[in-house]
Amino acid sequence: MKKYFKLLLIILLVAFAIIQFIPSGRPANQPVAGQDVFEIVEIPAEVGSLLKNACYDCHSQSVKYPWYSYVAPVSWLVARDVNMAREHLDFGKWGELTKRKQIKVLGEIAEEVEDRNMPMEIYIRMHSEAKLTDKQRELIINWSEQLAEKILE
Ligand code: HEC
Repeated sequence: MKKYFKLLLIILLVAFAIIQFIPSGRPANQPVAGQDVFEIVEIPAEVGSLLKNACYDCHSQSVKYPWYSYVAPVSWLVARDVNMAREHLDFGKWGELTKRKQIKVLGEIAEEVEDRNMPMEIYIRMHSEAKLTDKQRELIINWSEQLAEKILE
């Protein structure tokens, strides 16, 4: 029994080493000057730090990848999340959106934050600074609603 256990452990370790060579698909940051939402609209400091702490690691071109995001299989999950997150909302490419699209996305931000879908639960567990109080959620919701109204004007 002990022998099999040892063999299994070796197989697992070898497999772990091998999967490190599979490209993770983790997307690089490709910031474009002048396109980030912070460069386009004035964001109150308090809201700004909430967005940076709770959203920017997935929805931007300034993602800070922690060490474990370089280790498969976690790297695959992180890559998938960032790719999907940017497809829906990329604060780093805000300037590329039409006004209509910006308004739509701002509505979605308010909705996701209100419903507590965002930031993702698994992310909060690894990043305590992304845990939002009700007050902080309200700040983001009010900000996104006000900005949408301003764009409409
Ligand atoms: C750990 C990564 C991560 C973080 C942090 C994160 N998101 Fe997301 N977000 C995602 C992913 C992945 C999706 C796509 C979900 C899907 O398609 O099921 C998404 C989708 C969204 C959407 C689109 C929802 C829709 O209706 O299509 C919005 C809006 C959004 N997030 C806002 C935010 C905001 C605002 C924050 C910060 C308060 C945030 N997210 C933090 C990963 C993240």
